[in-house]
Amino acid sequence: MKAPRDLQRDVPLAPRTTLELGGPAELFLEARSLEALQAAMRWAEGEGHPVTFLGGGSNAIVPDEGVRGLVVAMATRGVEVTRKDADTVHVRAQAGEDWGAFVSRAVGEGWAGVECLAGIPGQVGSTPIQNVGAYGQDVSHTVVRVGCIDRLSGERVERSAEECAFRYRDSDFKRHPGRFVVTDVTFALREGGSPLLTYRELVERAPSAPSLEAVRALVVDLRRAKSMVLDPTDPNRRSAGSFFTNPIVDAEQAAAVAAIAARRELGPVPEWPAEGGVKLSAGWLIERAGFPKGSRRGPVGLSTKHALAVVHHGGGTTAELLAFGEAIAAAVRNEFGVTLEREPRLLGCD
Ligand code: EPU
Repeated sequence: MKAPRDLQRDVPLAPRTTLELGGPAELFLEARSLEALQAAMRWAEGEGHPVTFLGGGSNAIVPDEGVRGLVVAMATRGVEVTRKDADTVHVRAQAGEDWGAFVSRAVGEGWAGVECLAGIPGQVGSTPIQNVGAYGQDVSHTVVRVGCIDRLSGERVERSAEECAFRYRDSDFKRHPGRFVVTDVTFALREGGSPLLTYRELVERAPSAPSLEAVRALVVDLRRAKSMVLDPTDPNRRSAGSFFTNPIVDAEQAAAVAAIAARRELGPVPEWPAEGGVKLSAGWLIERAGFPKGSRRGPVGLSTKHALAVVHHGGGTTAELLAFGEAIAAAVRNEFGVTLEREPRLLGCD
């Protein structure tokens, strides 16, 4: 089979990720249409090349040795209304659309349901995979269908929200990596709906009866204060957001953590009820395990604004970043008996 026309070789991936780390893609292609994506996948399979998919690069870690085989950057664009009922509008966005721009568009149209997810870097197609969430909202609240290519058949299929089986920062896509490639996402948004105000930090700062735009802007300000928006002038900018998920533990383990905290006079342990147990704050555990905000180990460290973001200060390697992450996880395990799970994906490996 003939190689795709716009196939490139040995393409640096670091500039395509927010961490700015790691080696090149052996083969690289930007897929601008569903047909181009399917053709590239068929070609790679025929040639025996493994295929890795890259979205906005804001939740991806690239190994120092790079990624073997074909890396496909998802670059399909388009947002369309597919259905309108009394007060609900179904909006389908292609995987390569910028997430922040999609949120701004929704807010501008008066469509409620994603306003708390403003300022999150990345592309639409990645959001259902890890059920992106912030400030009390996550995409599972509004995703009704996810269009994907089933890699077993090579055909486009549509998966319902139920089939996606969303959980906190998790979905069937994440639990079965490699099976589906997300091509588009359909959201059911509430036309003329009110913004969601449940997260304490938002509730405390929001004016009374705020507009969708007021909440969107407030979320962006809050995220900016934590270095969680992409800002080329921010010294904490090279990160993948939260480096770990917040651990969900059972009641017994939560009590054990509380007992350790009491013994060490650490004050109340932040915790929230969660499906399957109690959600603890990874940032809180990290700080109390000996890694305060701004901790540094050579070219990598913790954000000075948020202990959950591991930051690359420039001139580092992915090996250094991962070793630092492992040291943090080991300290939290030793101190509190809690295991932290890495959140960003290691390309070509996870
Ligand atoms: N905390 C600390 N130290 C820190 C950070 C947090 O002690 O350095 C404690 C505080 O008690 C604070 C609590 O943790 O009140 C919650 O902190 P925050 O509101 O910043 O939220 P988070 O649980 O640390 C999660 C998401 C973020 C999302 C925020 C806001 C995960 C893994 N992270 O962080 O998502 O923006 O909530 O909703 O669930 C991301 O995934 O990349 C991300 C940025």
